[in-house]
Amino acid sequence: MDTKKALITGASRGIGSAIALKLAEKGYNLVLTARDLPMLETVSENCVSHGVSVEILAADLTSESEIISLFEKSGPIELLVNNAGFGIFGPIDEFSLEDWQAIQKVNVEGAFLCLREALKNMKAHSGGRIINISSVVGVKGYPNQAAYGASKHALLGLTKTAIEEGRDHNIRVHAICPGGVATEMVKSARPDLTDFSAMIQPEDVADAVAYLCSLPPNITVDVIHLRRAASPQSW
Ligand SMILES: NC(=O)c1ccc[n+]([C@@H]2O[C@H](COP(=O)([O-])OP(=O)(O)OC[C@H]3O[C@@H](n4cnc5c(N)ncnc54)[C@H](OP(=O)(O)O)[C@@H]3O)[C@@H](O)[C@H]2O)c1
Repeated sequence: MDTKKALITGASRGIGSAIALKLAEKGYNLVLTARDLPMLETVSENCVSHGVSVEILAADLTSESEIISLFEKSGPIELLVNNAGFGIFGPIDEFSLEDWQAIQKVNVEGAFLCLREALKNMKAHSGGRIINISSVVGVKGYPNQAAYGASKHALLGLTKTAIEEGRDHNIRVHAICPGGVATEMVKSARPDLTDFSAMIQPEDVADAVAYLCSLPPNITVDVIHLRRAASPQSW
């Protein structure tokens, strides 16, 4: 059993809760964060059944002070899964600045602050691993997804710099870019898609996280592009 400690953002539901469960199965002690305390408690109950310790620290990732406090309370961590994010969808010529800024605030600024605090945390110890959850939308363009897509492109850009800055500190940084995953979020992004069973499942993303965590120390994988094997390939 691995006894490392992992902090997972956006752990209250969807992909984040599946990652929490997978890492608990792998023996990681967990710090789970999001805003919805009752949902975090449900995820925690499922994780502790694997015999690991789970700490719940609610935080709003639009707040720098809450993020700093989150990492202070977490203590030394070996793994950050920078997963929290959300989308608002619509054509560019109808999109408000307020909605644009709300998305960048969580998906870029919040992810940057978590990345910054994790790098400080890990540099002060013996290194670690950071996994940023970007998206296929961080690589390709889709109608109605300009603000969300720009935020996920930014997260991939942040990842590329962090890979280089972490290298000499024994900190491995990765991004996972999944296509559409069967969670609540995809329903608002792609209301035309109805067959959830044919999509990538949250557990598939969790398996990709577990794969990255299993890499031997002499190699790394910068970016995983997780796609449906069947057509249509990107979704
Ligand atoms: N679903 C997809 O098709 C898909 C595809 C590729 C990538 N992704 C990415 O995967 C990640 C997880 O997505 P998902 O599909 O699992 O979405 P989800 O089910 O809507 O979950 C989003 C998570 O982010 C948290 N979150 C949102 N705003 C937050 C804030 N201000 N402060 C703290 N936590 C916040 C939510 O927690 P609270 O509401 O409790 O705070 C929730 O736990 C996102 O980064 C998303 O962009 C999703």
